[in-house]
Amino acid sequence: MNEIRITRPDDWHVHLRDGAALAAVLPATARQFARAIVMPNLRPPITTAALAQAYRERILAALPEGANFTPLMTMYLTDNTPVEEIRRARDAGVVALKLYPAGATTNSDAGVSDIRKTYRTLEAMQREGLLLLVHGEVTDPEVDVFDREAVFIDRVMRPLRKDFPELKVVFEHITTLEAAQYVAESDRFTAATLTPQHLLYNRNAIFTGGLRPHYYCLPVLKREQHRLALIQAATSGSNKFFLGTDSAPHASVLKENSVCGAGCYTAMSALELYAEAFEAMGALDKLEGFASFHGPDFYGLPRNTDTVLLRQEKWSLPESVPFGEALIKPLRGGESLGWKFIG
Ligand code: NCD
Ligand code: ZN
Repeated sequence: MNEIRITRPDDWHVHLRDGAALAAVLPATARQFARAIVMPNLRPPITTAALAQAYRERILAALPEGANFTPLMTMYLTDNTPVEEIRRARDAGVVALKLYPAGATTNSDAGVSDIRKTYRTLEAMQREGLLLLVHGEVTDPEVDVFDREAVFIDRVMRPLRKDFPELKVVFEHITTLEAAQYVAESDRFTAATLTPQHLLYNRNAIFTGGLRPHYYCLPVLKREQHRLALIQAATSGSNKFFLGTDSAPHASVLKENSVCGAGCYTAMSALELYAEAFEAMGALDKLEGFASFHGPDFYGLPRNTDTVLLRQEKWSLPESVPFGEALIKPLRGGESLGWKFIG
């Protein structure tokens, strides 16, 4: 029997939501990961240190008995985030701010309309050592949906890196060859997270035998050449690439709808999905660095010291699970997986 034991991983990008939804999805993340970077795109968004602190308390209160899990809090950067809020954020243990271009994705209406409006705040972040996490897509309606990440690199990322060379920036959930190359060639202040769905699937998955809403997330899946570039980056051993599931739960009724919300729910089988992607490349030996070392090293946090076991064993993910009053369908729900997280 094939087994691998790795240092316990962390999830460097997850959506835990709030209320009944939080209670429904948090146990899955806390079962596999020691820590997670919690996205701030609630309604209303987490825009202040006080809101982040209160959200952390709600997460801790929703944890199952005996869970050993630390939420790492983020704040939502807006055109108006006051410079003074950065010091308060640091004192409250907030580790990063998230840049959503206004209108780019789920609950991003409060996002940044022009990055130059945030420059004084970014300066304070660079000074205080807070990271900037970037949803890297332009929202210009003239730009094709599949090109929005590549265009973002030239229009926003390059000028930003030039103006704030020592601000640590994570290019979140990258989906293209262009982004993988950009990050690989950048200096030690730039890194990227990679989701399981972008390592396993290309855009055909959204259209196989009909429209498949559970494969729709943002940034949207791209062509096979891009998937190949991403899995090569993830398995290269480069410390600039690390695990961030972007597990983004939406009730099934809102996915299987005339307007389908963006997001794949992967928390229930996150490590299994990554193991499948790494195994297909013959690179299971690179999984630990990607899942457990590169993230904390980039964030300047200690690595975890306990371990988890993954076993090669066929099992079936439930078709759907309760999500408050509703149901949620995990990515690959009702299908079998070849790896199993043992714990
Ligand atoms: C995320 C969500 O649902 O909050 N959706 C997604 O497709 N990834 C938002 C985001 O991270 O873009
Ligand atoms: Zn996300």
